Amino acid sequence: MLRNIKNNVDWVGKIDWELKEFHGADYSINRGSSQNAYLIREEKNVLIDTVWAPHAAEFIAALKQTIDLKEIDYIVVNHGEVDHSGALPLLMEEIPETPIYCSSNAVKSLVGQFHHPEWNYRKVKTGDTLDLGNGKQLVFVEMKMLHWPDSMATYMTGDNILFSNDAFGQHYAVEELFNDKADQCELWEQAIKYYANILTPFSTLVAKKIDEVVGLNLPIDIIAPSHGVIWRDNPLQIVGKYAEWAADYKQDQVVVVYDSMWDSTRDLAHEIAERVSFISPDTRVKVYNISKSDKNDVMTEVFRSRAIAVGSPTVGGSILSSVAGWLYFLKELKYKGKRAAVFGSYGWSGEANKELRSLLMEAGFQVVEPEMRVNWKPGPDDLAHAEEVARALLEE
Ligand code: FEO
Repeated sequence: MLRNIKNNVDWVGKIDWELKEFHGADYSINRGSSQNAYLIREEKNVLIDTVWAPHAAEFIAALKQTIDLKEIDYIVVNHGEVDHSGALPLLMEEIPETPIYCSSNAVKSLVGQFHHPEWNYRKVKTGDTLDLGNGKQLVFVEMKMLHWPDSMATYMTGDNILFSNDAFGQHYAVEELFNDKADQCELWEQAIKYYANILTPFSTLVAKKIDEVVGLNLPIDIIAPSHGVIWRDNPLQIVGKYAEWAADYKQDQVVVVYDSMWDSTRDLAHEIAERVSFISPDTRVKVYNISKSDKNDVMTEVFRSRAIAVGSPTVGGSILSSVAGWLYFLKELKYKGKRAAVFGSYGWSGEANKELRSLLMEAGFQVVEPEMRVNWKPGPDDLAHAEEVARALLEE
């Protein structure tokens, strides 16, 4: 269903309340999501992005109720990932000659995925413009690696709308569309989860791009991303948050993440948490058994933390697969400026701590020397070591 954004700009996307996971099963969706597409009807009519293939028929049927598809003068593809380009093949069957404005890398991703080299691609780069008539223009801004090499944003002059694609988005379904109408608690939780789980590897680029966009001195009345809310109330608040998150973000929080076979490593986890809280009562402490927790939500809590402790028992000369898989995900996200400690119990050979230490260092953490490495079930003398682990984690 079409919803008005401002003047002759309408939202024509899909609010997906049913979606439970994204990027395969790599990202959990707790409160639905949306694929936002936009239709501009000035002297020229422009479609900005589409939706994921399962919603393509519904998207095109709704679009047809709004406009004769042959009256769409241009299509803008801000990013080739299929959640935004998935309806293109069906759409292009109806309007095969329509020019597609996109980055040169997006031509590669679109051709690679859909095998239509004959589509009428128009490659654009930062600063290129497209006249809409009525004194308005689109201005293209490359957003390389935010989060794909093909990503770009499109700015509409006159209405001062930045169509930012994935940047500033959230996997969050909000029927009311706009940020000022959304449940603020849910909105900010989903916004930081999206940043922590998708954008952190590119934080240096985020900071540079924000400086570049702010330096253009463009008036921005609305930021319209491709997922979640449209920012119309103080739209630059999300830009300010991104600047904060991109600067090695941390709160006074410590997270303990572990898995356990017969509860010995669990006991160590709880002892470390208790000690941290005792030594530093103002520090927020959270504990997660990773095999029983949502890995993306745990990752968001790690993103918020100044330090983490990670534990696994030794199994087969290594660590439990639940912890290993999660640590590989942690490595991918390239968090910076955080401390870590390791802990684990063992019966025979005891290699887990060494493996945990190595993986955390590869993930960019400063791993402290004190650790808890306990043979069999921890006794009082073993548990006493939690004190030095906690103190090392809390050092500034
Ligand atoms: Fe990178 Fe929403 O796709």
